[in-house]
Amino acid sequence: MSIEEGKDSNRSVQSRVFPLRSLQCFVLFMVLGIGFLVLSMYYFGVQNVVNKTRPNSQSCFQVPVTLRQWIKPPLNLMHKMSDEELFWRATFLPRVKKYPFKRTPKVAFMFLTRGPLPLTPLWERFLKGHEGLYSIYIHSLPSYHPNFPPNSVFYGRQIPSQVTEWGKMSLCDAERRLLANALLDINNERFVLLSESCIPLYNFSIVYHYLMKSLYSFIGAFDDPGPYGRGRYNQNMAPEVNITQWRKGSQWFELNRKLAVSIVEDTKFYPKFEEFCRPACYVDEHYFPTMLTIQAANLVANRTITWVDWSRGGAHPATFGKNDITEQFLKKVLESHTCIYNNQPSPVCFLFARKFAPNTLGPLLDLAPKFFGY
Ligand SMILES: *[C@@H]1O[C@H](CO)[C@@H](O)[C@H](O)[C@H]1NC(C)=O
Ligand SMILES: *[C@@H]1O[C@H](CO)[C@@H](O)[C@H](O)[C@H]1NC(C)=O
Ligand SMILES: *[C@@H]1O[C@H](CO)[C@@H](O)[C@H](O)[C@H]1NC(C)=O
Repeated sequence: MSIEEGKDSNRSVQSRVFPLRSLQCFVLFMVLGIGFLVLSMYYFGVQNVVNKTRPNSQSCFQVPVTLRQWIKPPLNLMHKMSDEELFWRATFLPRVKKYPFKRTPKVAFMFLTRGPLPLTPLWERFLKGHEGLYSIYIHSLPSYHPNFPPNSVFYGRQIPSQVTEWGKMSLCDAERRLLANALLDINNERFVLLSESCIPLYNFSIVYHYLMKSLYSFIGAFDDPGPYGRGRYNQNMAPEVNITQWRKGSQWFELNRKLAVSIVEDTKFYPKFEEFCRPACYVDEHYFPTMLTIQAANLVANRTITWVDWSRGGAHPATFGKNDITEQFLKKVLESHTCIYNNQPSPVCFLFARKFAPNTLGPLLDLAPKFFGY
C-alpha cells in the first residue's frame, strides 16, 4: 500500500466510522443542551418573579433620565450625608452659564438657632403669598425636635445638625452646613443667615428685589486696629492671612451663590482659623469676613443688612422686649440710616433686625402692617 493509498484507506475508515461517533456526540449534546435550557428557563423564570416583586429596581432602568431629575431640590432635607460628603456634593458648579430651563432665583432663609423659633408667626405673614421665591432651612440642637404643623412653611425644614458653641469653630461649621444644604437647591441664589430673634423690616417684594438686584454680598468686614480687631490676629496665620487682610464683622451675613460656594469649598483658610483663632479670638467674627476680603473683595459690601443696637454698650447688643416695641422705636429702626447700595447712597440699609425677645411677637404683629408693610 502506497503512502497515499494508506492515507486514503485511513480516511475511508474514518469516514465510515464518523456517522456513528457524531451521532453519539449529537445525542450527548442534545441531552446537555435540553438540560441547560430547562435549567436556564427555570432560573430566569425565578429572576422574573423576583423582578416583579421589586418594581423599583426595574423602573430605575426603564425611566429615562430627564433634566428635571437633576434640577429638582431634595424632597427630604434629613439626608444621611456626612459634612465631608455634603460639602463635596454642594460645591458642584455648572460651567455653562446659561440655564437650559426657566430658573426663578430664590432667597434661602437660614435659621441658626438652639431651639424654638418664637417669631415664626411674623415670618409666616411676611412670606405668605410668595411661595416659590424662597426656601427655609433650620439648624438647631440635634436634640431639639420642632413641632411645626404640616401646613407651616417651617414644617420639615430642619437640616441634619450638630452641637455648636458660640465663638468656636463649631459655629462656623453650622453656618457652612446651612449654606451647603441650601446650595443643594439650584434655585437658591441669595443666602441669608438669621437667628431666632431676627425679624424682617420690609415686605417680601422689597427684600427680594433688594437682594436680587444687589451687585454685592452683605457681610460686615472692617479693619479694627484695636485689641479686639488686629489684637486677635496670630502671626502663625501667615502667609495665608496677613495682618493687613485681617477683618472683623458680625456673623449675620447675606451671600450670593458664588460666595456661598467659596465658603463651603474652603480648605485653605479653615485650618488656619481653626488652629490659630480660638477664644479670645472669636472665629465667627473673623473667618468669613477675612477670607472673603482676601478672595473676593470686589464682591462684598463690607456691611451687614441685619440691624442690631450696640448703643447700650457692653459685650452684647441690646435685646428688645415687649415694652420696647413702640411706634417711635420702629421709626428709629427704619429711618435715620444712610448707606451705599450698588454704589449709590440709599436710605434702605437694613432688611432685618435682631435681637427681639419672644414676648415682642404680639406688638410686632400689631405694628407690622403699618411699619413693615406686611
Ligand atoms: C411692599 O411695600 C412697598 C412700599 O411700601 C409697596 O409699594 C408694595 O406694594 C408692597 N408690596 C406688597 C406685595 O405688599
Ligand atoms: C501683607 O500684605 C501687604 C499687601 O498685600 C504687603 O504689602 C505686605 O508685605 C504683607 N506683609 C507680610 C508680612 O507678608
Ligand atoms: C470692601 O472692602 C474691600 C477692602 O477690604 C474693598 O476692596 C472693596 O471695594 C469694598 N467694597 C465696597 C463695595 O466698597
